[in-house]
Amino acid sequence: MSYYEIQGGRPLYGTLAVHGAKNSVLPILAACLLVPGQCVLHNCPDLSDVSATLDILRLLGCRADREGDAVVIDASSLTRWNIPEHLMREMRSSVTFLGALLARLGEAELSYPGGCELGPRPIDLHLAALRALGAEILEEQGALVCRRGTLRGREICLAVPSVGATENAVLAACGCPGVTTIVGVAREPEIADLQGFLQAAGARVTGAGTSTIEVEGCAELHPVEYRVMGDRIAAATYLCGCAAAGGEVSLTGVSPDTLTAVLTCLEEAGCALHTGPDQIVLASRALLRGISPVRTAPYPGFPTDAQAILMAALAGGEGATLFEENIFDSRYRHVDELRRMGADIQVAGRAAMVSGVGRLHGAAVRSTDLRGGAALVVAGLGAEGVTQVGELRHIRRGYQALDKNLSALGADIREIP
Ligand code: EPZ
Repeated sequence: MSYYEIQGGRPLYGTLAVHGAKNSVLPILAACLLVPGQCVLHNCPDLSDVSATLDILRLLGCRADREGDAVVIDASSLTRWNIPEHLMREMRSSVTFLGALLARLGEAELSYPGGCELGPRPIDLHLAALRALGAEILEEQGALVCRRGTLRGREICLAVPSVGATENAVLAACGCPGVTTIVGVAREPEIADLQGFLQAAGARVTGAGTSTIEVEGCAELHPVEYRVMGDRIAAATYLCGCAAAGGEVSLTGVSPDTLTAVLTCLEEAGCALHTGPDQIVLASRALLRGISPVRTAPYPGFPTDAQAILMAALAGGEGATLFEENIFDSRYRHVDELRRMGADIQVAGRAAMVSGVGRLHGAAVRSTDLRGGAALVVAGLGAEGVTQVGELRHIRRGYQALDKNLSALGADIREIP
């Protein structure tokens, strides 16, 4: 199995264009099922989760081809509505096909989604939202059999601002006659990007970014070209890498407004930050300081996906920081691996107290999940000596050319087959 080998302590300098957002392009790819024609998605990142999604689209009868930094999807001849288990288990975001297939074909059959081991990954909020719209959903031996039933627009409410359930409800509502009002939706920027794609294709969707989204269903959708937003969590990863290793990096392709909570923490930790509409510049010249408690929360709160990444940077600094993971039940699996690098982290339930040790030391560590793996790379960049990061399959799900990008910024990192 290949692994990254990182010689720590090399400061990062230079400019990097951040790739398109995984958590935006995945629901947008599902939304392409609603369009009986060709869609072109620019700035589509080359990730294993994207490849898995393209495989699902092809299996359903769509054309799905990569052309440089774009993918071309043609769902004109959508024929199937069932997704086999082996494809569904590849990742969790495949559950958004439920709403898209119901909207376009009126039926869907798929198994429960897979995904990172972040604790239980229920889809009760997805099913409740679709049933509230009138869909009939049977759960039979781990598979979901869904029929349009009496799908029609109405007001529905999400008990929790779930990102995926919001996306599923919006896509299903696009196939409901009348107006659907969805209250209590997630406000993540990726939802606004999905709305931007749907509007460009002719759908009447408004309100993304607020707690209520309104959809006037059954609009005539037409082929569209759309540019996917930059990946704010990938950006946070490169910024934390520079914060840990020192130096000065300039990121383009991501709006700083989409990761304000992370930038605030990095500034409090002692980094110098300058931002423009499409650019973030971070300079780190000293050991990172401990900061006020980091509590993960739905957007615009601190993003759970950046929790492990920021923790890895602070673990090698000085001073103490309290983390509280409020979104997922088991998102501290990277802690044991960071401890192997000398980190001093005490976990009690949702809380984790990180006491900076001045500098971590290299070790052989294993990625536990996507962002946990990225956190180990961040830790390795700032550590003394050599770090080997294994189980790269987790990292490839959400980072395009992470090692090459970091090398271009001056890091000593290479993939050892
Ligand atoms: C999306 O996952 C992201 N994935 C996650 O990113 C991200 O961590 C998460 O949103 C929160 O921001 C994609 O967009 C592909 P949720 P999602 O539904 O939609 C519970 C990454 O690293 N819940 O907002 O699955 C759930 O268990 C990934 O890129 C229910 O209880 O997240 C969690 O505790 C990891 N029932 C909380 O809600 C449900 O039906 C938030 O989950 C759905 C969710």
